[in-house]
Amino acid sequence: MKIGIDKIGFYAPHLYLDMKKLAAARNIDPDKFTIGIGQEKMALPPVTQDSVTLAANAALNMLSEKDKQAIDFVIFGTESGIDNSKSAGVYVHHLLGINPRARTVEVKQACYGATAGIQMAKGHIALNPDSKVLVLASDIARYGLNTGGESTQGAGAVALLVSKDPQIMALEDTSTYMTSDIMDFWRPIYSDKAFVDGKFSNEQYIAFFSQVWANYKEKTGHSIKDFEALCFHLPYTKMGLKALRTIFDEGSEEDKERLFDNYQHSARYNRVVGNIYTGSLYLSLLSLLENKQNLKAGSRIGLFSYGSGAVGEFFTGILQPGYREHLQMEHHTKLFEARQEVSVEEYEQIFEETLPVDGSTIELDIEKDPAAICLAGLENNKRQYINKVN
Ligand code: CAA
Repeated sequence: MKIGIDKIGFYAPHLYLDMKKLAAARNIDPDKFTIGIGQEKMALPPVTQDSVTLAANAALNMLSEKDKQAIDFVIFGTESGIDNSKSAGVYVHHLLGINPRARTVEVKQACYGATAGIQMAKGHIALNPDSKVLVLASDIARYGLNTGGESTQGAGAVALLVSKDPQIMALEDTSTYMTSDIMDFWRPIYSDKAFVDGKFSNEQYIAFFSQVWANYKEKTGHSIKDFEALCFHLPYTKMGLKALRTIFDEGSEEDKERLFDNYQHSARYNRVVGNIYTGSLYLSLLSLLENKQNLKAGSRIGLFSYGSGAVGEFFTGILQPGYREHLQMEHHTKLFEARQEVSVEEYEQIFEETLPVDGSTIELDIEKDPAAICLAGLENNKRQYINKVN
């Protein structure tokens, strides 16, 4: 039985910052951000968007009524959870009107959470072939103003519907993975900003990729020539390129050209969104599928997932016939076109505008936020969500 990605949706907040303007404000050569890091724009969430609303907005246009009846498992991957107890997925389950006969959980392992969710979904479908699983990957990457990680922030969510006989990509059975207890990037419970050992995190990302790639080749006998494209977790787009370059000499000039060209397509959305942590790999896959016109059905795509702390996994999928007809290209193009630029001053103000943590009540101005699903305020220590289309 084929199991894999049947539908894929994406949402980013309506505001963005131009990286060249951030560079100018920080007295940094803009080429460092646009070439050295490989980022052009950074998506910025207003206070009316959190990991719940981003995920719900990503899935909103993608699910049919039939899907909502068939979904019996909602898995929410995030490292920007809004509650230490209740799963963010339960809010989304309600906001989207998914039937009550479903399990819902939140999964956390830094940027790897959604990959764990996809593998759990695959096992669930293998046992329950008629069910569908909604996997949500939603995060807000916050390092802080004037920090080393500032240029690698971002916000957004990817929603994936996993089922049998998938319309977009069938997941293959072999995957290779590893865990090692390291402190490259982490966020203690008391902090709303991440801590990072930047250079070490880059090194570990490459080391994990090398290991799981080597294990994958050994396990399957496949090599670089068996791949049409490789998609990477993209904390910033140069990172995936650095990893890809480490294996260029394993193939011919033709392999190198194909993988490099497809890499550029797979990084296009990430270049203008920034890091969305656990959704970044799936945004990169979406970017490849929507921006590259002529990928053939049957092509094998490799996916490298990395979650600091750290867990890494390499797994693969096969593109299905007619997959392009099942993408939401028009919707995503409109979403990108409608985004509004903010100045560095506005960005700094929005960044500092956070929710009260002392239990006080607050009503937020949701009129300024064009998203269908917004956070409207806080009351009695409960987040108040609104679906404007209901
Ligand atoms: N023109 C062109 N390129 C320039 C340049 C210029 N004027 N100035 C600098 N550069 C290049 C540098 O040569 C360097 O390129 P290489 O990496 O290819 O050598 C690149 O720009 C970055 O320069 P620095 O290393 O000096 O940058 P930095 O000290 O500001 O740190 C960073 C960069 C470590 C990525 C930092 O932004 C950071 O800590 N980010 C957050 C952590 C992160 O994203 N880690 C990635 C792996 S961990 C992970 O993947 C999980 C996750 O999501 C966080």
